[in-house]
Amino acid sequence: MRLAIQGGTPVRAKPFPGWPDYGQGEKDSLLQVLRSGSWGGYNKKVEEFEAAFAALHQVKHAISCANGTVALEVALRSLGLGCGDEVIVPAITFVATASAVLLCHGVPVFADIDPATLNLPPQAVEAAITPRTKAIVVVHFGGHPADMDRFPELARHHGLALVEDAAHAHGAVWRQTPVGNFGDAATFSFQAFKLVTSGEGGILLTNSDALAEKAWAYCNHGRRKLGGWFEHFSLGSNYRMTGFQAALLGEQLAKLPVQSRTRQANAARLRSLVSSFPGLRIAEPDPRATSHPQYLVTLRYDPEEFSGVGRDEFVAALVAEGVPAEPAYPHPLYRNPLFRREHLPPCGCGTWRSPQNYESLYLPESERLCRDGIWLPHYLLLGTARDVEDIVEACDKIQKLAPGLAACSGSGKSAKVR
Ligand SMILES: Cc1ncc(COP(=O)(O)O)c(C=O)c1O
Repeated sequence: MRLAIQGGTPVRAKPFPGWPDYGQGEKDSLLQVLRSGSWGGYNKKVEEFEAAFAALHQVKHAISCANGTVALEVALRSLGLGCGDEVIVPAITFVATASAVLLCHGVPVFADIDPATLNLPPQAVEAAITPRTKAIVVVHFGGHPADMDRFPELARHHGLALVEDAAHAHGAVWRQTPVGNFGDAATFSFQAFKLVTSGEGGILLTNSDALAEKAWAYCNHGRRKLGGWFEHFSLGSNYRMTGFQAALLGEQLAKLPVQSRTRQANAARLRSLVSSFPGLRIAEPDPRATSHPQYLVTLRYDPEEFSGVGRDEFVAALVAEGVPAEPAYPHPLYRNPLFRREHLPPCGCGTWRSPQNYESLYLPESERLCRDGIWLPHYLLLGTARDVEDIVEACDKIQKLAPGLAACSGSGKSAKVR
């Protein structure tokens, strides 16, 4: 037996389910928009999708927009974030969580993650609060809701705004309440890999009438819903979603509940198989997370159990065996060049020159995840129990043949998966 990366036969000859997933429904719906002649953001499918997304999350208002990044920016602007206001964000997230703060001239303050859920722990956030703190952005990372018992209460107690970045967490539920109900606003992404996708797209949910009005106006050049096209009451931009995006999203959303159940069942199978596997770990979700849609499964890797084969080499071997996987972020967000003093954008009033010195930051759990974390994407979990067994079989094969891999490759080489 030889590893596929060394010319052997891969464990998986058959590909895993692909993503995005589409069928006749998406094609028909796109054609309806095409034939309607109303291709832009005022197509009725946009409003229909907003209503369906709000209903699924049991939230009063939904404002669709061009992507998840602008959804975050609009949420923060609508909450009044301004020059020098500090916003606590996790160090493990996509750049948009923090760059949206910078775009509003605010100051991202990074906090470390809980290694089990990869979410912000309330105590780390509380420790980061200063008199300049204005908001907390929690990310429901990988689909696992952040601690929604503690954060709303913490935000209220300190007079802070709370935003849920739910880019990974479509349909996630905490103690029977869908995400989107805990913060002042919640934002979602419909980017190509997301659980509900139109290639690009985003939405903001809120139960606040005032915030919904501001957010809608910001996405629509400062118009009012019942005002004229050339009447602008406040500063805004054009962040609208198109009819084509909404056509795809309506169909995608209808499939989410079934797909989510399949993913959760397969994720549970995978956790149970991995629980007795030396050198790999998957944390159990918090039992209060009553629905965790499994945008990502995070494996923690111990090279000691794989004859010293480095994490990136293991991932490359796994991909060669036919299992799409990738290493976790290469570094916590604060290590990106963007957060070097010379690269930070200038702010009109200059108050971003706060005590933040990102270059000296070292948040141990975030750093550890970047060294030993491996991500399996959600669409691997859309297949059968056999598919899940193949993932573990591929890991097992690599472990058995790891001494040979370690000997001939020299460990620690990096491989970018996608
Ligand atoms: C946690 C998180 N927040 C925000 C975004 C931004 O979404 P978009 O790519 O739609 O702008 C992403 C995108 O991947 C994300 O992962």
